[in-house]
Amino acid sequence: MVNDFKQHILSSIRNTTAPVSGETLSGNLGISRVAVWKHISSLKEKGYDICSSGAGYMLKSEKDFLYPWEFPGRDITYVENTESTMILAREMKEGQPPDREMKIIVAGKQSGGRGRLGRKWISREGGLYFTLMTSSSLPPSFAPLESLKTGALLASLLRKTYSIPAQVKWPNDVLVDGEKICGVLIEIGGEVDRLSFMHVGIGINVANTVPGEVQACSIKNLVSPSVTRKDILTRFLKDYQKAQSWEPDTVLAFWKRHTSMLGKTVRISQPFGTVSGTAVDVERDGSLLVADGNRVHRITAGDVRYA
Ligand code: BTN
Repeated sequence: MVNDFKQHILSSIRNTTAPVSGETLSGNLGISRVAVWKHISSLKEKGYDICSSGAGYMLKSEKDFLYPWEFPGRDITYVENTESTMILAREMKEGQPPDREMKIIVAGKQSGGRGRLGRKWISREGGLYFTLMTSSSLPPSFAPLESLKTGALLASLLRKTYSIPAQVKWPNDVLVDGEKICGVLIEIGGEVDRLSFMHVGIGINVANTVPGEVQACSIKNLVSPSVTRKDILTRFLKDYQKAQSWEPDTVLAFWKRHTSMLGKTVRISQPFGTVSGTAVDVERDGSLLVADGNRVHRITAGDVRYA
């Protein structure tokens, strides 16, 4: 409810040519003028550039805020700084029954961001870091396809919205000219035949600086620095929701449209050695097929490098 009031106040005082009076806001929202004033004060404290005068209130300029009231209709928890949104998601999930609605946890920065294969995900201010807590009760076999789908959706979003030539590399790394721009980490829990949760963690380099020692890039260096995290998250959640009903074959076809990997020579490091060959296909179980002479290797995990 508090978020709804803030959302309504902001939508009234945004993009307006004249100040909106406390009286009008109080009448429209059905709350007292004191309550309006309290919401305005709290928004100002959070950093909103609100001009208050005898005539009323006006939002003077926009900043890239990720507060829940910026995402109407979504169940979002925002934290300025946390160790990892994956840890928060686990804590929130602990002992809870499956939710019908998807919950989203967003962080401004993370001190212990997690990456795939036990790596770190350096999460400096300006990047977009979030975990989707999807409703579960799915068989665990859904997780690999979910991982492919998420990476391809991110690549697609960057291409269609910002004309960034993003490509997905199996299973879900999103790269631009060989440099990583988004990463996806899936964590699941539950029984052998039923998941009790599936958490999809996503990191996107937006306006953050990226560590020099890794091959990575940020949106701000590729397109207008005015691209906001809020815009990316709003669009991604819409696309993700639409893709919820996709059949496995639709996911695979979509993934293949957003990769340039098939047909290329690849090397995959695995705990028991390295596999080299031509990436030829992805399967319904999410595995990558790599042809090496007469042999076809089915890869289910590992780090792919172009040879
Ligand atoms: C990868 O290694 O490519 C996956 C990176 C996933 C990073 C995201 S950021 C939000 C969420 N919280 C984490 O700690 N990790 C994921």
